[in-house]
Amino acid sequence: MRNVPYVALRFGAEKPGAEVGAARIVEVVAREAEGGGLPPGTRLPPVRVLAHQLGISKNTVQSAMDELVARGLLESRRRLGLFATRREGGAPGAAGGGARPSAAEFLPAASVQARPKNGRIPLSEVFIDPELLPKDALAKCFRRVLARRGLETYYDPKGYLPLREAIAARLSRHGIETTAEEVLVTAGSQQVLDLVTRTLRRRVVATESPAYAIGKALFSANAPRTVGLPVDPFRGIDLDLWERRLAAEKPGLLYVVSRFQNPTGYSYSSAELKALLRMSAKYGFGILEDDWGSDMLSFSDYRPSLRALGGSAVLYANSFTKKVLPALRLGYVVAGGPAMDALLGAKRLAALGGPVLLEQVLFEFLDRGYYDAYLRRTQAELDARYRRCLAALRASMPEGARWTAPGGGPSLWVDLPRRVDLEKLKAALEAKGFDLRLSQEAFFGVPHLHGFRLGYAFLPSKTLERGIEVLGAEVKKRL
Ligand SMILES: Cc1ncc(COP(=O)(O)O)c(C=O)c1O
Repeated sequence: MRNVPYVALRFGAEKPGAEVGAARIVEVVAREAEGGGLPPGTRLPPVRVLAHQLGISKNTVQSAMDELVARGLLESRRRLGLFATRREGGAPGAAGGGARPSAAEFLPAASVQARPKNGRIPLSEVFIDPELLPKDALAKCFRRVLARRGLETYYDPKGYLPLREAIAARLSRHGIETTAEEVLVTAGSQQVLDLVTRTLRRRVVATESPAYAIGKALFSANAPRTVGLPVDPFRGIDLDLWERRLAAEKPGLLYVVSRFQNPTGYSYSSAELKALLRMSAKYGFGILEDDWGSDMLSFSDYRPSLRALGGSAVLYANSFTKKVLPALRLGYVVAGGPAMDALLGAKRLAALGGPVLLEQVLFEFLDRGYYDAYLRRTQAELDARYRRCLAALRASMPEGARWTAPGGGPSLWVDLPRRVDLEKLKAALEAKGFDLRLSQEAFFGVPHLHGFRLGYAFLPSKTLERGIEVLGAEVKKRL
């Protein structure tokens, strides 16, 4: 019964350091028991433990315990130890139960849609097929890092310096000039969204509608006001409407997913990006650009990014979780000057630092060229899946349905005529073993689109084609 936890008792309150005698032990335990500090059933420290703690003989402790048993305050259970007795009028709360925090002390749980685990085939997934992920190459990097004599044992609050240097060099090759000083490693890009919104002076966040749903939920948790700006992936951005709303709402931050937006797959035109920069200067809001969908398909490195156009006025976030391994939970933000100071300060408050062990593994993965080799291989496969997805949609979807063709990222948006009831469609697909996410929570107010996200990176082409065929048939039935 070594595992039954026992209470901590303090004996030296009056004369710290002085030797504790049996009488003192009896006095303290009796006072605790009578004052409700030892709920019935609470285990007392074993005799040898108390003797060790107090630096006295076991005999002294044993005689004190015998006295407490004799007084009826403790009972000895064979081979289990000494326990506070059950007495009338004892302290409330059953032994081992303890007080539970009341619901009133906590805010209701934020609603974050979990990945469904129901055995159905997910059609709206944004991850890459686990079969394609570079697990073996990463395992090699883990072994290498762990075998190294000079394993980094401390953490740099900004993130492992060689990793930040590798990220900065990579970004510079992709048209985003930066240095390791400007890179802050984070727990995925989700932590970037959290750090940025928590450090804003003006906590009003504007973002796309439909938005990246968990980002939107986070903004609502961190900012008293969030503002939706409609994205129509088939027509583009209504810049006049955006400007009117931004001028009226005066957000502190505009968060945009500039390429392969989640959930619509939309990529902003250069003219739209320039307009956003102009508005940012005119109305004084910051911009956070989230480049989550980069690197997944060939030829998807659309330039310029908002950061490349706007320089340090734009914070840039990206992540290795979608591209390398969801379980890695490593992302980063590029920021300079006071923005970096604020974000670093917030990260230190939240977590002190990051998992430098993983950061070293990721550095190894980049440094050995494994990331580029993996991307070349994976992009060829995802290109094929993307083309087959588009072909399947063309073959199976009826007149009136339309979809975006993002050319990058992991997903596109399928939009249907209003007379198709999306909830019923979802239920019909569920009955046939497929899961669809309707993204309703991604909209601010009544959705102006009528559809859902379709992921082409997660499922093998044959499975996705089967799903699209079933989807097409179900949509046709409803038209
Ligand atoms: C657009 C977008 N940004 C950020 C994230 C956060 O991902 P992570 O924290 O894994 O980088 C997601 C996750 O799906 C996303 O879709």
